[in-house]
Amino acid sequence: MRQKLVAGNWKMHGSLQSNQILLAQLRESLDAKLGAQSRLEVLVCVPAPYFAQVQSILNGSSIAWGAQNVSQHKSGAYTGEISASMLQDFGCRHVLIGHSERRGMYGETDFEVAAKFQAAKMAGLIPVLCVGETLQERESGVTESVIARQIDAVLEVSGIDGFWQAVVAYEPVWAIGTGKTASPGQAQAVHAYIRQRLSQHHAGLAEQLRIVYGGSVKADNAAELFAMPDIDGGLVGGASLVSAEFVAICEAACS
Ligand code: 13P
Repeated sequence: MRQKLVAGNWKMHGSLQSNQILLAQLRESLDAKLGAQSRLEVLVCVPAPYFAQVQSILNGSSIAWGAQNVSQHKSGAYTGEISASMLQDFGCRHVLIGHSERRGMYGETDFEVAAKFQAAKMAGLIPVLCVGETLQERESGVTESVIARQIDAVLEVSGIDGFWQAVVAYEPVWAIGTGKTASPGQAQAVHAYIRQRLSQHHAGLAEQLRIVYGGSVKADNAAELFAMPDIDGGLVGGASLVSAEFVAICEAACS
């Protein structure tokens, strides 16, 4: 049985003050529950300037923290970039790779995404590989080929073994921040496709790989999404900034 994962993606939100309040509320609501049972893992992916603050507040907590991006390079003259070893320095365990906002707004190619995935793996971080189609791609009937291309780029660089311990997040671009959620059936179909595609390379690995859904996950739709057989939790944007919402989503993943 795969352990569920609920990951918050704070994106470019937060401040020293609001982080302090949000994390204290999450600890109060979730620490005891997470300690008592291991059916759920909870993670927050925070903006880089707050790593030290988040590390300090979550010290001793069962809530893990991660980053939203990483450089594909180890070190060097890459102004503005952050390396995997820097993330490690602050106790980050996870890193989002190839979020659609990075692919769409910052031109990250499948090739760069694959290189970043590999950099994370080499440093011992857990990559959360984001894949997903645009509305136009869905309406043109090419959803599966888009997902296949995004997954295959990573397979080419890291091989199927790169997916051990990794997480895949299916985030249809049309559902991100729009209030439009994929229906449980729509999401399940793509999750099953991802698992089946990877199982062609290694059935055992595909069976234990966690594939989480992202795109307007809220407290009131989380339970029906998480009830689907191939949906192993959520990657949550806006609702992860509101403690009551995020906690309710985590509770939906435990039920
Ligand atoms: P929303 O939950 O705000 O739609 O964002 C989803 C997302 O992009 C998480 O990475």
